[in-house]
Amino acid sequence: MTQDEMKKAAGWAALKYVERDTIVGVGTGSTVNHFIDALATIKDDIQGAVSSSEASTAKLKQLGIEVFDLNNVSEIAVYVDGADEINDRMDMIKGGGAALTREKIVAAVAKKFICIVDNTKEVSILGDFPLPVEVIPMARSYVARELVKLGGDPEYRQGVITDNGNVILDVHNMKILDPKVMETKINAIVGVVTNGLFANRGADVLLVGTPEGVKTVTSK
Ligand code: 5RP
Repeated sequence: MTQDEMKKAAGWAALKYVERDTIVGVGTGSTVNHFIDALATIKDDIQGAVSSSEASTAKLKQLGIEVFDLNNVSEIAVYVDGADEINDRMDMIKGGGAALTREKIVAAVAKKFICIVDNTKEVSILGDFPLPVEVIPMARSYVARELVKLGGDPEYRQGVITDNGNVILDVHNMKILDPKVMETKINAIVGVVTNGLFANRGADVLLVGTPEGVKTVTSK
């Protein structure tokens, strides 16, 4: 089974968590693209979606799913998104696709976060995947120096501008033993918009595509 087949299995498995006649929160990435394909098969049974990126918005619209402005939506029952790493406490690193800020906003509104991954994303300690940090452009060098003080090795993601007009620093070589504390510390650096640690608001349900089928993990 290929990695993409495992992503697809996880993406389609998320469909059963979608509540009829609601607005669905939709993340970003190759795994979510499979979920959007699945969602299109029940598009007449939902009101529509709130999207976490221009890329997902384009795909949702192309498949005939209405996309709502989050400011006009008071409730999202379920948010479905992928991750770059997830540990057994349901803390995640996200932002490989540079959509972390909008993802974190939609996740904050949602009642339930369904994380969909293939089995390469499960880790015991977060940090092998470089941690993305979205930064206001003029603060890039200052924030990089502050991230070094926290023990990381930040690298400017060349040529990438986020949907919000900002830049990304990818922080290498961090063993993140306390994700909640690190998430809070990095977010406190002036000039940081947000970072890709999703620990203070982690996943509620994890669906992992594996060669043996989709494994379901529920947060304790
Ligand atoms: C985008 C993300 C994605 O969820 C993450 O990068 C996983 O992507 P993929 O499903 O393509 O492996 O956080 O900002």
